[in-house]
Amino acid sequence: MDTPDNTVLVAGSASQMLAVRIARVLGVNIVPVSSKLFPDGELYIRLLSSLNGRKVIIVQSTPPPQNSNLLELFFLINTAVEQGAEKVVAVVPYFAYARQDKEFLPGEAVSGRYVCRMLRHCGADMVVTVNIHNRRIFDGTGMPFIDLNAVPLIAEHFKNFSLKNPMVLAPDEGAIEEGKLVSEMLGCSFAFLKKERDKHTGEIVTEEKQMELKGRDVLVIDDIISTGGTMVNAVSIAARQGARNIYVACVHPLLVGEARLRILSAGAKEIVGTDSVPSDVSLISLASLIAGALKN
Ligand code: R5P
Repeated sequence: MDTPDNTVLVAGSASQMLAVRIARVLGVNIVPVSSKLFPDGELYIRLLSSLNGRKVIIVQSTPPPQNSNLLELFFLINTAVEQGAEKVVAVVPYFAYARQDKEFLPGEAVSGRYVCRMLRHCGADMVVTVNIHNRRIFDGTGMPFIDLNAVPLIAEHFKNFSLKNPMVLAPDEGAIEEGKLVSEMLGCSFAFLKKERDKHTGEIVTEEKQMELKGRDVLVIDDIISTGGTMVNAVSIAARQGARNIYVACVHPLLVGEARLRILSAGAKEIVGTDSVPSDVSLISLASLIAGALKN
């Protein structure tokens, strides 16, 4: 995606603001899209500029409602291909179903992998994701991808805070890499908790360990906040151990249902995420990170 001249961007309905920000950084035009739902709920999509011979960037995150966001993404990709696009890059900052990267219980659909296959089947030449939960879902699907790391942006955000003797805390072992990176960038200590999720009920249990948090500021970081259960447990532990201010950060703030309220009620002072999922906590923009990758 070298020169902007021949490149255009399509803004999916789940990523309108992020798409505009990326288009501005790249200096490319946005293709107008007409879309509507038919009375029976079916989706209608029409791209209103010619894409023949163009390099097309489609920006569509897939937070809830993930199924309709995915279907829209599939339609946009395939329409661009059928309109004669020379190359189609799908930017999917939050990649739905990536947590189902294997068969945890016999007979389960490995849905993350099927989404990758669908993207390939629709004609995407490349997929750009951000901190995808597990890159393994691309294995064997033939779908080329770049997975960007937004964690340094989160660390940069917190560099502007006057944190007192801070500690970065990973709420589970899956967040160790992210947590360590932030702690290195902030030059502070790091700890992680161990979490178990019941494979049938989804119930989360976090093991409490002593971490010497009295009077310290704590930053809890994870890739995704969905129901908030993981964060609530970590924040509650930090609060019980006397942490001063507890900040919560993630790349993908899905914040399903009462998640935000539950996390704040557990003792968090603030929640911050990126605009991979639009929300009022999405204060960190991925636009420059994504635009930078698209330029190469
Ligand atoms: C899974 O392990 C992820 O990294 C997150 O910890 C998880 O998706 C958070 O989900 P919830 O907010 O529902 O606890």
